[in-house]
Amino acid sequence: MGTFVKFYIDGKECIARHGTQLVKAACENNIYIPTLCNYPGIPPKGACRICAVIVNDKAVTACTTKVSESIVVHNNTPELEKFRKSVVEMLLSEGNHFCPSCEKSGTCELQALAYRYRVTVSGFPYMFPFREIEAWHPKLMKDHNRCIQCKRCIRGIKNDQRKSIFAFGKRGTHVEINIDHDASEGISDELAQRSMDICPVGAILRKRKGFDVPIGRRKYDNKPIGSDL
Ligand code: SF4
Ligand code: FES
Repeated sequence: MGTFVKFYIDGKECIARHGTQLVKAACENNIYIPTLCNYPGIPPKGACRICAVIVNDKAVTACTTKVSESIVVHNNTPELEKFRKSVVEMLLSEGNHFCPSCEKSGTCELQALAYRYRVTVSGFPYMFPFREIEAWHPKLMKDHNRCIQCKRCIRGIKNDQRKSIFAFGKRGTHVEINIDHDASEGISDELAQRSMDICPVGAILRKRKGFDVPIGRRKYDNKPIGSDL
C-alpha cells in the first residue's frame, strides 16, 4: 500500500496513493480523462493515445503514468481536447463504422466520445477498407470493420488455461485481431458475454443476442461518457 501524495490537475489539488494510475487517480478526484484502450483491471497498453495529458511539461499517456508527489497535470486544455477529437476522427475514418446498424450503438465508447467531441464528420479522408466478418465461432462474431485494435480483448479475455482467446492475425497494415480457434473452443456463455462487454466498440458480438436494451435505456443515452465518474 503506497502512501498518499498530493498532486494537481488543471490547478485542482488532488490526493491519491503514490503509484496509482493517473487515469484512476483522476477519477478518484472526480476528474475525467478520456480513455479507449484502457480497461480497469487489465495492464495498460498506451495504444490509442486519447488519454494524452501534459505532466510536468511533458506529453504522456495518463493510462501508463503513475502519480507521484506534486506532479502538475494539464488535462482539460483546448489543445488536448483538439488532439483527442482528432484521435476519434482518425479511428472513425480508418474503419467502417455504421452506428445505426450496430448492436453496440448507445453503449459504444467510440460513438460516445464522438458525441462528446461533437464529431459530425471526420476531418480525415475515409478509407473504406475491405474487411470481412468472422462468423465461424458458435458463440461469437468478430466484425473487423469496427475493430479499433485497442487489444483490450487480447489482454483481458483468457480461457481456463490462462490463454487469450483472441490473437493477432495477418501482418503490417493488414493486421487484425482474430478469435483463436483452439483457445476459444468450448468457452462459457459468461466468457462470451465478457468478450463482448470488454470491447469498446461493436467488434465482438455474442451470437443470438442483440439489441436487447431499448433506445433510451442504453448506457450512454442518459449519461454521456465522462459524466458518471
Ligand atoms: S475486438 Fe474490440 S477489444 Fe479487441 S482489439 Fe478490436 S476493438 Fe479492441
Ligand atoms: S487509454 Fe491511454 S493510450 Fe489508450
